[in-house]
Amino acid sequence: MKGIILAGGSGTRLSPLTKVTSKQLLPIYNKPMIFYPLATLMRGGITEVLIITAPDRAGDFLRLLGSGREMGAKFTYEIQDKPEGIAQAFIIGENFIGEDSVALILGDNIFEDDFSEQIKAFKSGGHVFAKKVPDPERFGVVTFNESGVAGRIVEKPKEHVSDYAVTGLYLYDNRVVSIAKNLAPSPRGELEITDVNNVYLEKGELTVSTVAGAWLDAGTFDSLLAANLLIAKQEGSRVLS
Ligand code: G1P
Repeated sequence: MKGIILAGGSGTRLSPLTKVTSKQLLPIYNKPMIFYPLATLMRGGITEVLIITAPDRAGDFLRLLGSGREMGAKFTYEIQDKPEGIAQAFIIGENFIGEDSVALILGDNIFEDDFSEQIKAFKSGGHVFAKKVPDPERFGVVTFNESGVAGRIVEKPKEHVSDYAVTGLYLYDNRVVSIAKNLAPSPRGELEITDVNNVYLEKGELTVSTVAGAWLDAGTFDSLLAANLLIAKQEGSRVLS
């Protein structure tokens, strides 16, 4: 299985922090943010990773991460010209993905869990990771049965559908490339990952597992601060003791 980290976008919700750098390069205690999603993929045994960045930031990511050889990995870089949706990553990454299955992780998602079991067990279809949250309207949400088969998935629901947010880690078989190519942009002008998930769901091939440990989408000032505090605590920062 190959890995993609989507680290594009202009990070407008974090302006002015993101005026001269990418959101995914901002510090989370002692490391740049992108180190955390990268570690999540590598813990899962994925060593071939495509990093998708915004056009004017590609050089910064390359300087930071290089070839990946030192970490026992191989990094490839591509550019997302405009923030046209998470699912566009599979179109940009088509050549990189080749004939393989793929794990996509968002460059601002920080997980405590080790997903190596689910990644190794993945065979086909789509698999998402859900976490119970107090503010489901901010996310894509999903319902699922005891066997983990998804029932409904809705992006930013106005009415309550489920307390389980779909987190920013997704596993797909190779069909995801053609699914992404056949999507129409949503009203917000994006190729939505929820629409990809809906294609698998309609085939009965979307499964869900729950996230036990902490999960943060560090895309707002408060979640960025929460992520810093979480990692600082884990790393034994004396400021918090
Ligand atoms: C995106 C996805 C959403 C998912 C979230 C996780 O939201 O569209 O389904 O729950 O990432 O971080 P966005 O960052 O576009 O608001």
